[in-house]
Amino acid sequence: MTNKKKYVLVGAGGRARFFYSAIATDFRETTELLALCDVNQTRMDYAKQQLEQKYNYPEVRTYKPDAFDTMIAIEKPDAVIVTSIDRTHHTYIIRAMELGCDVITEKPMTIDEEKCRQILDAVEKTGRNVRVTFNYRYAPHHTKVRELIEGGAIGKVNSVHFEWLLNTKHGADYFRRWHRDKRNSGGLLVHKSTHHFDLVSFWIGSEPETVFALGDLLFYGRENAEQRGVTQFYDRATGNPLAEDDPFALHLDRNGRLKAMYLDAEHEDGYLRDQHVFGDGISIEDTMGVLVRYKNKAILTYSLNAYSPWEGYRISFNGTKGRLEMSIMEQSYVNSGGDKALEGAIKNKEIRMFPMFDKPYEVEVVSGVGGHGGGDPVLLSDIFGEPAEDKFKRAANHLDGARSILVGIAANRAIRTGQPVKIADLLKG
Ligand SMILES: NC(=O)c1ccc[n+]([C@@H]2O[C@H](COP(=O)([O-])OP(=O)(O)OC[C@H]3O[C@@H](n4cnc5c(N)ncnc54)[C@H](O)[C@@H]3O)[C@@H](O)[C@H]2O)c1
Repeated sequence: MTNKKKYVLVGAGGRARFFYSAIATDFRETTELLALCDVNQTRMDYAKQQLEQKYNYPEVRTYKPDAFDTMIAIEKPDAVIVTSIDRTHHTYIIRAMELGCDVITEKPMTIDEEKCRQILDAVEKTGRNVRVTFNYRYAPHHTKVRELIEGGAIGKVNSVHFEWLLNTKHGADYFRRWHRDKRNSGGLLVHKSTHHFDLVSFWIGSEPETVFALGDLLFYGRENAEQRGVTQFYDRATGNPLAEDDPFALHLDRNGRLKAMYLDAEHEDGYLRDQHVFGDGISIEDTMGVLVRYKNKAILTYSLNAYSPWEGYRISFNGTKGRLEMSIMEQSYVNSGGDKALEGAIKNKEIRMFPMFDKPYEVEVVSGVGGHGGGDPVLLSDIFGEPAEDKFKRAANHLDGARSILVGIAANRAIRTGQPVKIADLLKG
């Protein structure tokens, strides 16, 4: 087949596998992966070896970041897939567009207002497309909520109460990895909550206007552990007797993939993926509360906790004709540590409708199979499959990417200053 869409991918870590395995299997007829780009050759070689040995895929070339332009010149891709660490997204998104490519980027689109502005300017200047892969939109129960609200089932939504819980396995993982440094991830209100703020806009069909937030590191980190009486600390878990009985420890040498991707690769860049969650140097929050007013006057009260005994969320929408409640328990996971189809897969789900003057009833939705509530496989078809009309308009662009991170970026500013932040003010200048 000659008119396959050609891709290169930047950032050959855990999330990269989601895209390259799809290209090498279900979408082999419509897509082609030509090259990988990463600071770490060992991780690129691991991905390359997976492609060849597991999927019998032809050899892909590898490039270091300083050869990004050369890669684009040689490979001539239609689009660049960006799955590198968050703080680097804008560099590749912007350069790819300047060199004539479209972009598919992982969330968060970027981590601060300055980089966001640069991306929006580059889209304007180049006329290229940026697609942000908000897989949660595609989970069948999330799509159903949009359909119900859009169809007027609870009237105009005036308030949303949203509590998201990350547990001591998946939530803890952010405190072992590069995310623990706010300069890399923007903190969880950007890195993680971008999904949640995107969903709220998607569901209620409005844009955020004003944000206030409080947040702190109250559980992870050395100081908190010391205050609880802990006296034993270590830098990294792998091979460390001090970590042997620590339920928060991740031992990279006990999982083949984690060993190959991170332990065997760390001699190149010094990146330790198994740091102590009660160690020093954590600059992100683990306990957060956010208030948002939307342009349609709806009010969101949101909370995120990263050390919960269970993983999932509860949300309720109060409308002029009734109330919609959803409660979801998700499968817990460690990035790259297991089957990616289980990442955020559903364990338990309840959706209940309370019409204002009628009997409450359960909303039945067939559960999606696969990661992120069954959203992952549907998203992949939308990106890599034959183009099709989507009545739910789930494909997210640079504006959706910006809208959702700006809530987290505004929340970070509110946490720093103690003042409410207008989203429009973030993009001035
Ligand atoms: N949508 C989702 O559900 C989902 C799930 C997981 C991860 N993600 C996103 O995917 C991205 C990657 O996360 P991950 O879990 O794969 O992390 P990871 O640490 O496994 O991989 C990140 C990769 O980026 C590379 N990298 C670092 N600096 C770079 C640079 N300057 N240039 C090029 N490459 C560089 C690292 O070497 C590493 O291979 C993040 O943005 C994350 O938010 C999204």
